[in-house]
Amino acid sequence: MSSDEYPTDEPAVVTCGLPYANGDLHVGHLRSYTAGDAYSRALRKLGQQTAFVSGSDMHGTPIAVGAEQDGVDPETFAMAYHEQYEATFPKFNVEFDNYGHTHDETNIELTREIVSTLEDEGYVYEKEIKVAWDPEEDQPLPDRYVRGTCPYCGETARGDECDEGCGRHLEPGEIEDPVSTITGNSAEYRDREHKFFAVSDLSDYLTEFLDGLEGTSNARNQPREWIESGLQDWCITRDMDWGIDYPGAEDDLVLYVWVDAPIEYVSSTKQYSERVGAETYDWEAVWKPQATDGDGEVDAAAGAPGATDATDADAAGSRNGEIIHVIGRDIIQHHTIFWPAMLHVAGYTAPRAVCATGFVTINGKGLSTSRNRAIWAQEYLDEGFHPDLLRYYLTTMGGFQQDLDFSWERFAERVNGELVGTVGNFFYRSLLFAARNFDGTPEVDVSEDVAERIEAAIDEFRDAVNEYDLREGSEAGVRLARFGNEYIQGHEPWKLEDGGAEQAQVIRDCVQVAKAVAVLVEPFMPEKADRAFAQLGEDVDASEVTLEAATEAPGAFGEPDELFEQVEDERVDELEAALAEKIAAAEDDADDGDADADDGDADDGDADAAETESDDSTASEDASMTDVEPLSEDRISFDEFQAMDLRVGRVEAAEPIEGADKLAKLDVDLGAETRTVVAGIKQLHDLDDLPGTKVVVVANMEQNELFGVESNGMVLAAGEDADLLTTHGDSEPGTKVR
Ligand code: MSP
Ligand code: ZN
Repeated sequence: MSSDEYPTDEPAVVTCGLPYANGDLHVGHLRSYTAGDAYSRALRKLGQQTAFVSGSDMHGTPIAVGAEQDGVDPETFAMAYHEQYEATFPKFNVEFDNYGHTHDETNIELTREIVSTLEDEGYVYEKEIKVAWDPEEDQPLPDRYVRGTCPYCGETARGDECDEGCGRHLEPGEIEDPVSTITGNSAEYRDREHKFFAVSDLSDYLTEFLDGLEGTSNARNQPREWIESGLQDWCITRDMDWGIDYPGAEDDLVLYVWVDAPIEYVSSTKQYSERVGAETYDWEAVWKPQATDGDGEVDAAAGAPGATDATDADAAGSRNGEIIHVIGRDIIQHHTIFWPAMLHVAGYTAPRAVCATGFVTINGKGLSTSRNRAIWAQEYLDEGFHPDLLRYYLTTMGGFQQDLDFSWERFAERVNGELVGTVGNFFYRSLLFAARNFDGTPEVDVSEDVAERIEAAIDEFRDAVNEYDLREGSEAGVRLARFGNEYIQGHEPWKLEDGGAEQAQVIRDCVQVAKAVAVLVEPFMPEKADRAFAQLGEDVDASEVTLEAATEAPGAFGEPDELFEQVEDERVDELEAALAEKIAAAEDDADDGDADADDGDADDGDADAAETESDDSTASEDASMTDVEPLSEDRISFDEFQAMDLRVGRVEAAEPIEGADKLAKLDVDLGAETRTVVAGIKQLHDLDDLPGTKVVVVANMEQNELFGVESNGMVLAAGEDADLLTTHGDSEPGTKVR
């Protein structure tokens, strides 16, 4: 890992969290994969040597439980999904350089090797612990075989993960009131010997690691809280027969799925390297620290296991690749604590960046595979929409870390506004003019100010990639197209002499802007960009070129066709209606008490405006960005407005809610009384600055308990940054707002 700006001299690997091979892919999964794919393409645009890898996660209870339900053996079950994923990703232009799975030889071998190193280095010990047990079936109940109550936040949780509350990893035996998901019986606890990885010994290393970690702020900051509250050692074995056998152990003792799953990142890179040859891409140069001995010669031994003092490799002048993990925010802990701890002890390179996207939700609730509360990957394709439209929507809607509430209406707005209205429109009118009057690119130089504008867009793109800001990266291209539209509109080439010098200049400029736009939006919409390149008469694909191509002149070309198609209002209404119906059915299902494998309602809660509206308010928060969210056509009556008891409040105290990503607890003086209000502003405001601030509160909002804190009111805030509404004058707390 280096901290040089991209592109660096070292190879990079971008990875995506491995999908559990236990169900169809939905838009939630796709958010991660399209983001990883876009980021790896963006790095390549900068000229960074980049491999993009992932694979299917074949082990663990998610697969064992699914296979049992389907009455097939886990391997057959997982393999069928693996093949389905392999076929699905390319349909969304998610092009992995290698897509393996955790049950293949490469991964099994590498996992054994790494676990043996952890043992050899003295970081693994055996301990008797209590594991959940189904008394009726007389079998152990690892992970998803048990549900109960999270000891940290009190929400219902799965055996190994607080999936509906604080998102913490749970150790075996930690869950309270355990119930078997096989029989529904209360589970007992029995004593069993298990292996532990001494993560608690690595707090100092991990703190240092986090200090240097790049990526999104959620991934850099949340783990600090976990470290501060004291790391626990990590149980790395399970009583099961499906998985990678614990090296040397008898019985049904396998490695916990989270041990072998991330190792697939390395295995998959290795497979890629073996396929293309180490001269083309050397996996060891990325994953194994290589020290230079002063004269630039690589000394591979410097990264050998045991170099557990983090500074060893640095002191020797470490040289290794850029590892960038793209994941959803539910698996931050695994990627910023357990995984770097393993890599470190095993003598591998530490990740340079962890980028964790927000979750995709529907109506503010987590997607659910079992309840069919989802938009499925195949379902989207069946609607006949181009994959690049979904890619664009998922990678650029809201901030990267913000949850994204899926809506066909917002999808259509983005497609019709930015893609049809801005990018497509600019392309079509410029290229048509160029083709008709000049047979393509007019033979003059690009004017200086337009060349500068293009350079500025390239710089914006480069900065965005270095800041891991995909939305900003895509905006660089869309903004340039907007400039192009204004340029052609302002210069009115249709009023100039056909084929004359002045007209040639304007069109020449537009053609170059168009080409630059195609280059810049390629990571987000690769197929559309390739088509734009073809329309410009280029004989390479937009995905094959680097940023330099943005300023190189295209040649001759003929008349273009439209790049994007409008999504009609009636279509949106139909889709929204169908979705609403599906959600209603899912809710009914939920009422039936269906408690099986859910993707987890990954939201911190849905009571506060600042949080839940953040996803959909993107357009309004940044005027320079896109069109503002349309004003609502649905009128409310004065009575309806009056039903809201809006009051001026004054924040008395503000503190973060432990365990929640975004929530803060505010004590707000409302004149008559001081209320506790939970608001989704934890990462967006300096909480210490808030006391004394006047706010506007919906005082008669229904009460709601979030993370064990009862919220008694709602604070109003604007946009994605949760800009708090305050008063202009000096109204006292309790004053009615009308
Ligand atoms: N198998 C583990 C990851 C192992 S990585 C060494 C896993 N699998 S998963 O199928 O549940 O999720 C796969 C990826 O999709 C993860 O990065 C996860 O965060 C992401 N998402 C799954 N559902 C999601 C949403 N609803 N929204 C956004 N991302 C989501 O976790
Ligand atoms: Zn919890």
